[in-house]
Amino acid sequence: MKKLFAFMGSICFIAFLCDPVQAARPLSANQPDSVYLFAYATNKNFNRNGLHFAWSKDKTKWFCLGPEHSYLRCDYGRWGAEKRMITPFIIQSPDGWWHCIWSLNEKDGTFAHAASKDLIHWKRQSYPVMAQGKNCLQPEIAYRHETGEYTITWISSSEPAGSTRYSTTTLDFKNYTPAKSCSGSSNKRETFVLTDTPETGTVHKVAWETVENLINEYQLVAYKNQLFNEQAADDPVRFAWLKPLHATLLVDTRQSFPISQHLFGVFFEDISYAADGGLYAELVQNRDFEYDPSDKEGNDKTWNSYKAWSLTGNQMSFHIDTVSPIHPHNPHYAVLDVASSGDGLANEGFDGIVLKAGEKYNASLFARLLNGGKKGKLTVRLTGKNGEVYGTAITRPISSKWEKYTVSFTALQDAVDARLEVVPQFTGKIGLDMISLFPQKTFKGRTNGLRPDIAQTIADLHPRFVRFPGGCVAHGDGLGNIYRWKNTIGPLEARKPQRNLWGYHQTAGLGYFEFFQFCEDIKAEPLPVIAAGVPCQNSGTGGSGQQGGIPMCDMPQYIQDILDLIEYANGDVKTTWGKKRAEAGHPQPFNLKYIGIGNEDLITDIFEERFTMIFNALKEKHPEITVIGTVGPFCEGTDYEEGWEIATKLGVPIVDEHYYQTPGWFIYNQDFYDKYDRNKSKVYLGEYAAHLPGRPNNLETALAEALYLTSVERNGDVVEMTSYAPLLAKEGHTHWNPDLIYFNNREVKPTVGYYVQQLYGQNAGNEYLPGKSSLAGNNNPAVQRRFATSVVRDTLNQVVIVKLVNLLPVSIQTDVKLDGLTNLASTGSRTVLTGEISSKTAKPVSDSIPVGPEFSCSLPAYSFTVIRIKINS
Ligand code: AHR
Repeated sequence: MKKLFAFMGSICFIAFLCDPVQAARPLSANQPDSVYLFAYATNKNFNRNGLHFAWSKDKTKWFCLGPEHSYLRCDYGRWGAEKRMITPFIIQSPDGWWHCIWSLNEKDGTFAHAASKDLIHWKRQSYPVMAQGKNCLQPEIAYRHETGEYTITWISSSEPAGSTRYSTTTLDFKNYTPAKSCSGSSNKRETFVLTDTPETGTVHKVAWETVENLINEYQLVAYKNQLFNEQAADDPVRFAWLKPLHATLLVDTRQSFPISQHLFGVFFEDISYAADGGLYAELVQNRDFEYDPSDKEGNDKTWNSYKAWSLTGNQMSFHIDTVSPIHPHNPHYAVLDVASSGDGLANEGFDGIVLKAGEKYNASLFARLLNGGKKGKLTVRLTGKNGEVYGTAITRPISSKWEKYTVSFTALQDAVDARLEVVPQFTGKIGLDMISLFPQKTFKGRTNGLRPDIAQTIADLHPRFVRFPGGCVAHGDGLGNIYRWKNTIGPLEARKPQRNLWGYHQTAGLGYFEFFQFCEDIKAEPLPVIAAGVPCQNSGTGGSGQQGGIPMCDMPQYIQDILDLIEYANGDVKTTWGKKRAEAGHPQPFNLKYIGIGNEDLITDIFEERFTMIFNALKEKHPEITVIGTVGPFCEGTDYEEGWEIATKLGVPIVDEHYYQTPGWFIYNQDFYDKYDRNKSKVYLGEYAAHLPGRPNNLETALAEALYLTSVERNGDVVEMTSYAPLLAKEGHTHWNPDLIYFNNREVKPTVGYYVQQLYGQNAGNEYLPGKSSLAGNNNPAVQRRFATSVVRDTLNQVVIVKLVNLLPVSIQTDVKLDGLTNLASTGSRTVLTGEISSKTAKPVSDSIPVGPEFSCSLPAYSFTVIRIKINS
């Protein structure tokens, strides 16, 4: 990093010469002792650009910092809709802390508060609720030295009688006196024309050093942005002078140290149809008739109980009823009124149903005769659009109470857009629900199982753990949408489906039992993530104060549910929840070791209170379980800093970090974990991916990830786990890009990034062998940082694994010396992932290579090479 700063210094100097605002800075010999600092926010971008500063010696000529660098941004409300900072007001208290308050919007009776020591690093935000239904405009703070009290006043313009001024007082910005109306106006704001438009804000006399620090901050950010936005598209110019290189890698195997055995895992979230319509092998869409317009926030009125269902003729009508359903969790069902038999109720599946000739399928449904409908059977068949029949079966006679009927058939031919039809062989009314179709060939042949091709593609990563069920899905969109594991176990008809926060429907058919079973099937540790008593920070339904939290009176039950989960996974079959696991067909424990609490939550008081309660309860009742905490959605900033503070204070064993960054960020942050304190919590890098404009998953993003993962292996003593995100996405239903594995109904399409994950997963070690790599005759940081190596030993299988990443447009001839190992095999297996840097189809190719304690290997331009060398016993 030191070299990085030296390089940075020269860039800053160039930037200084080119930037008119910078050029106007006084030189150090002629600096004022103190200047005026103007704090303001503009109306631009719907007030979302945050807090800006300008400085002046005389309040006449102003120099804008950045020129509109955001030193603090608002966290309130939904991304894309809120996050507004309107009329910020700042004061500095005698203890040196700066307090900033601002108005959030025109409708909520709350303002925002944040505090900072240096105007650069801000503590968590709070949004005290003042008066429900009234807005808080132009808030101001005054400080009373005599009492140490802050008085906050604001205007509420939503009063029937016109604008009214209110005030409240606080000593700590946590507890406030009730708002009361007050008289007078006290506008302490000033207005200046900075460039061309007048801006209003607060003015403060500050030491020149304060301004200098603010200038340094935005320069550093600007510098980093420039570096982190480097893309391979510019390599032909950036590296026009570069010739093929020569490198050495000297490894001292005697300096080895243990690293985590769970470094590479996967993160499964039901996003982009990853579960229903994806990994979960159910072929019928809306099998439970529970689709609801609210799944899509009411935006699609056709997204309802009828979705994906139709009638094949007009001798029958179809409506939805809710009287006496199979289970209260599954209230809607179809009622067919059959005038003349022969027509069917058809389901189109998820983009059609794919059938494979000769394979067997199981269909099941719940049915009951209504209003004395005539007793009879149902024909269940698979058909094509032009009347082709691919398979037929007949149920036993239907009775007048809800019962389950199952049939199976063999597909007569291949089909890609088949449908499932249920055809009553009688007239009268019949109720139908939970109409389901599964291939018999599921992953490991499990009932209610998984699509084998997708599941096998995941298994082939050799993940050491599976994190589930999200992501944002875990903490949900609002309190009512938090993922509750108890709703996802037991008989399918009794599970509670819900709105998926990504805008579709979650059947819960792939529930906690199936997740645990999948983990067991692929020999991965289960890592369930439970909401920390707060929903997603982007919740639209959380009430004022951002995400809201589970009411305190409900927290004991919420915590009990988490304790019950441990009993469900690990408890004896005689326990309440262990018994349910056994009833589901798994008397043996699932051997749960980890639980994630929270998902990149906004770190607020509401969060901290609930997280602490859950953490303490788990620590007391289940010290054997490793809790994984959360430190916000980014690798820096308030949530990251405050999340780490909480984790350190409580002694949380592992924290979950998330960052989606540019390839440049990964290239220039390979020392990120080198600096981590080994005495604090360990790290689970739970979500990360390299993002380029347009969000492809290509060789450039994949190699940036490969490069960074060499540094993760080097820090495998502090980084315990990692998982790329997101894992799965169905073509045509993709809510997020890039993903690791794309699929449609017929094919699974691993990405280039997938092969990087696979190469790491299949070539992990439990010991790191430190090495020193150097590029001969080249000390250009842009070149050096694009070459990275890592050497690990897998002591169980007695192999040394050398990983070499070349993100340069030229080849690197690399001499490898493995000092301290004599009994190495003379031939190693080599796998190389390379191609055009923008390639989305590059695949690894394997061969063998002569190796030994010393060997040489050519790394093609833009490549990732993995060499496995057996240690002879
Ligand atoms: O991976 C997609 C989403 O990214 C996750 O749901 C969330 O945790 C993060 O913001």
